[in-house]
Amino acid sequence: GSDPASRTTLHIDKIVRALPARRGLTASLKQYQGHWFHDHVVPGIISVQEKFRAKSDQIVLASFPKSGTTWLKALLFCLVNRSRYDFGHGGRSSPDNPLISSNPHACVPFLEIHALAHLDDPNPDSPILSSHLPHSLLPRSVVESGCKIVYVMREPKDVLVSLWMFAEKAWKGTSTSGLDAAVDMFCDGFVHGGPYWDHVVGYMNASLKSPDTILTMTYEDLMERPVHNVKRLADFIGQPFSTAEEDQGVVEGIVSFCSFDKLSNLEVNKTQLTSVEGISFAIPNDTFFRKARIGDWETHLNDEKRERLDDITRRKFKHIDGLS
Ligand code: A3P
Repeated sequence: GSDPASRTTLHIDKIVRALPARRGLTASLKQYQGHWFHDHVVPGIISVQEKFRAKSDQIVLASFPKSGTTWLKALLFCLVNRSRYDFGHGGRSSPDNPLISSNPHACVPFLEIHALAHLDDPNPDSPILSSHLPHSLLPRSVVESGCKIVYVMREPKDVLVSLWMFAEKAWKGTSTSGLDAAVDMFCDGFVHGGPYWDHVVGYMNASLKSPDTILTMTYEDLMERPVHNVKRLADFIGQPFSTAEEDQGVVEGIVSFCSFDKLSNLEVNKTQLTSVEGISFAIPNDTFFRKARIGDWETHLNDEKRERLDDITRRKFKHIDGLS
């Protein structure tokens, strides 16, 4: 056809067909611009690179899968909507908070996944957007518009274990069996957004260069100092807490509302599925909540696997500019 939408589809199909393909930890993958992605998402990536226009007041939450995306989606959603929903006085929240009836992934869209259903005009009308894209693959307009980017990262051994468990549960049938194969695939980068280490190094270096537009935080520090970090987030997105809010306990209210215990025990997250436009299957919400523990890798990885992963981490993180 010759209408713009079908021209876009043909153009994207042509690029996708030429890409290297292989099986990955969670699904079939294609390699695009130096990273591996679930093959069904690649058209969305190309679409946003070519056609997404960021607004300078949009906030982009970037992450490698299984690093705390769901948690940060909830926290950022509460932060930007806190004048509409009550979080004061001990963590109660207004009953109309969408996070009570919907999973965080339904409240904050993934840029490249939303694009799958809007290849020709992938511009979600949402103040917060999320992405698993490495920094080097972000649409140019995200970088040029100066919109704020929050990057959450997590200890790689915990990411691997979380990803492997997720693969077993959510992607049954396509996933690899066995932890050995999962470790191999993670180390070789055959996971969505992989290699993990290049993803982290890319955002760390970009943040060192542009600390005002890219904030990095770790899952572990957020777990240990949630109040401190939620204030940091609020400051960074230009919506700092007022003294009155602090006195009313709004910071603690948001922290407690977004806690693993609270979110994972909501009816919607125990029993419902989330379906996303452009994706042919729905994901059970409970797959986004597992244990939320720091160091859970210890129950799964033996010394040899630990050493293998730590060794790659030591070598790769030498490329973080501030550390070399
Ligand atoms: P585990 O599998 O180690 O339990 P992502 O959201 O990026 O997919 O990451 C999923 C991981 O974050 C899972 O880790 C999940 O349990 C954990 N998680 C989900 N919601 C959380 C929350 N509110 N607080 C802390 N961790 C959370």
